[in-house]
Amino acid sequence: KYNLFHRQFGLFLSKCKILTKQSCRQVSHEQKQQIKKVIPFLDMINTRRDQARKSILVQVQSTESFKELHSYCNSLGTVNQTFHYTTGAEQMNFIIIEFTRESNVTSVINNSLHLNKDQGFPVHSNFLWFKASNRKSRLKLHNCQLNKENGNKIPTSSEIREFLQTKNDISEQIEGLYNLTKLNEVATRLRFLTTRQIELSVAGMFPHAIAYPFGSSVNGFGKMGCDLDIVFQLTSECLAKEDSRLVFHCKAINSYERSVTQRHMEVMGDLLQLFLPGCTQIRKILQARVPIIKYYQQFTDVECDLSMSNMSGVFMSDLLYVFGLIDSRVRPLVFVVRKWAQEVGITNNSPGRWLSNFSLTLLVLAFLQKIGTSPLVLPSINTILKQSGTGYNSVSENESSFIQNIALSQYRSSNTDSLEKLLKQFFNFYSSFDFTTKAINLNEAITITKPEYNALYIVNPLERGLNVSKNVSQEELEKFKYELRNASWSLESQEKENSNWGILDILQTKKKVATNYFNFPKQERLMEVSKLFDEEKEKKSNYSKTSSENA
Ligand code: CTP
Ligand code: MG
Repeated sequence: KYNLFHRQFGLFLSKCKILTKQSCRQVSHEQKQQIKKVIPFLDMINTRRDQARKSILVQVQSTESFKELHSYCNSLGTVNQTFHYTTGAEQMNFIIIEFTRESNVTSVINNSLHLNKDQGFPVHSNFLWFKASNRKSRLKLHNCQLNKENGNKIPTSSEIREFLQTKNDISEQIEGLYNLTKLNEVATRLRFLTTRQIELSVAGMFPHAIAYPFGSSVNGFGKMGCDLDIVFQLTSECLAKEDSRLVFHCKAINSYERSVTQRHMEVMGDLLQLFLPGCTQIRKILQARVPIIKYYQQFTDVECDLSMSNMSGVFMSDLLYVFGLIDSRVRPLVFVVRKWAQEVGITNNSPGRWLSNFSLTLLVLAFLQKIGTSPLVLPSINTILKQSGTGYNSVSENESSFIQNIALSQYRSSNTDSLEKLLKQFFNFYSSFDFTTKAINLNEAITITKPEYNALYIVNPLERGLNVSKNVSQEELEKFKYELRNASWSLESQEKENSNWGILDILQTKKKVATNYFNFPKQERLMEVSKLFDEEKEKKSNYSKTSSENA
C-alpha cells in the first residue's frame, strides 16, 4: 500500500511539474513585457542617485591593486559591488566601489589624505586614487574577483558591423544594434557619479541641492559615449517643520532673475575650473536662451552640459522614458534612426542649423503615434498624462509633475509590425510628408497647420508656443528628405548575398551606390540641393499666399 501511494504521489508531482512548465511556456513575449516591473522615471533616478551617494571612484595603478583596495575599503565599511573600466589615451584604470551605506563613504572620505601642497588645492571629493604601500600590507586580502574588461568601452564601427553581419534579418539587426550600443551599467553609474560630484561641491552651503541628469543619459535613448545634460537646482525641499523657531539668515536676491542665474552659473564655472578634480575644458555659454557650462569630466569620461534654469528638460526626459517603456520596439527604432542620421551626416554632435537627436527622436515617436502607423503603436501625450493623472499646466519645479502611475496594459497596441517593417514605413512616411504646411503635435498625436513658417515645425510638448526644431534650415531639411528617400530605396532594393545587407547598407558613411547624393561630384550635389531648395521656396510662397487669402 505504501509503495502504491508513493508511486501515485510521484506521478502526481511530475504531472504538476509538467503543468507548471507548460503554463510558463504559455506566457507570451507580450505578457512578459507586461509582467516586467515598471519603474517610473523618478524612482529610477532616485535609485541611481542613491547608488552614487554610496559610491566612490578610485584610480588604481593596475587591476593588480584591486584585492588590496577591496580589503582596505572593507576595513572602513562594507563593499557591496565593484566595477572596473579604463579611460584616456594612457588607459588609466578606475574602479567604482559601491558600499552598503552612505556613512561608509563619509568614513572613507574622512580617512583619505592630501599628499602635499604641490598636488593642488586640498579638496574633499568622491574621486580618489589608491596609493601604493611601501610597507608590507597587514591587510587580510579577501578572495574577490574583478572583471578586468573595460566596462565603459564604446563599440567601434567595425565591431558593430561585424556583429550586425551575423544576424538573420533586418529586425534582428535593429534589435542587435540597440543592445550593443545602448548605455550600459558602468556608463550609467559614471553619469550619476558625475552629477554627485556637482552636488558635493556645494554641499556645505546647500546640503539639499540636486543635480538632475536629463536627456539621453537617462531617457532610455542614450548610447555609449553620449553626453550628460545636468540641471543643478540649489534650492530644494527643506526638512525642518514649519513651526521651527530658528530661521536661516540669507543674502537677499535683488536682481532680475536671468542675471542672477548667469551670475550663479559663472560661479559654478569657476568652481569647476579651479577646484573640482577631473573637470577640464570648461566653456561658459551664458548668453544663450538657456545658459550652460560645457565641460569634460576626464575621470568618468563624460562630456557635460550644466544648466541651472528650469526643469522642463527633466520632465521631457520623463516623457521620452515612458514612451520607451510603452512598447519594446520604440527604443531600437529610435536607435537605428539616430545611427543612420549620424552616418549620413544629417545630425552632428555640435548644435547648428541641422536636426538635433532630440528632434529626430520626436519625429520617430510622432510616426509611431496615430499619424504614421496604423494601427497606432504609441498613444498621444495627452492620453498618457490623463491616464497617469499628471498635470503639466505649468512647468513647475515640484515632483508631482513626474509621471508616477504607469499602467502599461492600458496602452497595449494591436500593431504587431516587425521592426523592419516599421523602419521602412518611417522612411516612406517622412519622404512624402508635407513639411511645408504641416507641423507635428505629439500632445494630440496629430499634424496641424504650421502656426508660423519654420522649415521644420515640431510643437514643444511642454511649452506649446515653441518649436523644438526652429533651428533647422531649409537646406538641412532638404538633405534630410533626400536621405530619407535614399534609405527607403536602399532597403527596398537589396540583395541578401551582399555583405552590406540590411541596415548595414544605410549605416555606411557616405559611400554608396551611384544614385546616392554623396556619390555625385560636389558641384552636382550642391545643384541638386539648390534645386530642391528652389522647389521648396516656391511651395513656401504659395503657402504664405494661401494662408493670407484664408486669413
Ligand atoms: N530639450 C528640450 N527642448 C529642446 C531641446 C532639448 O526639452 N528644444 C531637452 C530634452 O529632454 C532633451 C534634452 O533637453 O533630451 C537634452 O538635449 P540634447 O542633449 O540636445 O539631446 P539628447 O536627447 O540628450 O541627445 P544627445 O544624445 O544628442 O545628447
Ligand atoms: Mg544630451
